[in-house]
Formats: sequence, C-alpha cells, structure tokens
Amino acid sequence: MKFFVDTADVDAIRELADLGMADGVTTNPSLIMKSGRDILEVTREICAIVEGPVSAEVVAPDAPAMIAEGRELARIAPNIAIKVPLTWEGLKACKALSGEGHKVNVTLCFSAAQAILAAKAGASFVSPFLGRLDDINLDGLQLIADIRAIYDNYGFGTEILAASIRSVNHITEAAKIGADVVTAPPAVIKQMAAHPLTDKGLAIFMADWEKTGQKIL
Ligand code: G3P
Repeated sequence: MKFFVDTADVDAIRELADLGMADGVTTNPSLIMKSGRDILEVTREICAIVEGPVSAEVVAPDAPAMIAEGRELARIAPNIAIKVPLTWEGLKACKALSGEGHKVNVTLCFSAAQAILAAKAGASFVSPFLGRLDDINLDGLQLIADIRAIYDNYGFGTEILAASIRSVNHITEAAKIGADVVTAPPAVIKQMAAHPLTDKGLAIFMADWEKTGQKIL
C-alpha cells in the first residue's frame, strides 16, 4: 500500500519523506490556502522532496481551461499528477491530459458510478472521499469496497486513492479492502504509531530498568 501525504505543509512532508512514509503528496485548493503560499512555488518545493506523484488541482470550470491549467501545472516537475474534479468537464480534461501522457487524479469521487467513468477516461488515480461520506451518514469504506470489486472485475488500471481520511481506522480498513493508496493528513499518519498498551508497556519496562541501576551506554 502506498502512503500519500494530504497536505501542502513542506516541513511535515519532509519529516515523513525522511522516514520513507511519503510515497507521494496530494494537495487541493483548500490545502494551498492553508499553506499561505503560492501554488507554483510550494508545489515545486514539494515535488523536489518526494519522488512519487504530487497531485496539484486545477480550478477552472470547463474542460478547455482545465486542460490549459493542467498543462501549466505539469510543467512544474515530472512527478506532477494533475487533479481534476469528477464532473463531466473534469472527465473530458482527464481524457485529454491522460492522452498526452500526464498522470491524472480524478478527485471528489462519491459514487462507484463516478469511479467507473474516471477509469474509462484514463485516470491514473480516482479519489473517493471517505470522511465526507461518513459526515453525511453514508459509508465511505463501502464505497472503497465497491470500487475495488468493480475495478477488479474488469481489470481497470486506475489506482484507488482513498482520500478524506480522518482516522487511523480509515487507513487500516482501506488497506484491508485493498485500496492502492491512502492519502492522509500528517497527524493521522503519526497517530498510527500510537497505542495505549505500547505506552503502558514502555512505562513498566522503564520503571523496571531504573531498578536494575544499569546503563547501556
Ligand atoms: O484528499 C482530499 C482531502 O484533502 C479532503 O479531506 O478532510 O477535507 O474531507 P477533508
């Protein structure tokens, strides 16, 4: 399973990349806004930190303008994946940009039907948003399972990129289902290391070690 980091925070990306835990990065207009930085500048910096795909999102409303923006974003670095929304216009842009050899990540996917269209349009990645479905009492993980089954039925090569990850549980469940990639905020990735029994066990070991009076170094 590949881990993408869902942020435009360069320091956080660097920390995870140094640990081999950032196979790629996903950004979106909200994350760029949060970074307070220029999209081209920050994206270029991110592309130099990770080897894998860095998703940068178009913001135009129609396909011709999305295609133009996508080409501009792709000029930033060879590891750019152009992110387009899962709208009819976005699918047209996906078809054109993937036809030119660009990696395209079709984002804002909320149904299996939409995911089929993304695959047909040549997407490298489809991004189903788990958390936002859960927010409205729908089952985000079930959507991942449905897309996995459909893509496997027909051998679609589009990778399932589980997005809008809010919890460690989202990541483990998406992994069990067989999502190809998860993109998660840095804090959620770090939270994966935490377990109360680890903390408790470590406290006992440290207390007992203290009693031995020994030192390793
Ligand atoms: O990858 C998409 C992600 O950034 C959306 O997450 O938490 O805003 O739904 P969220």
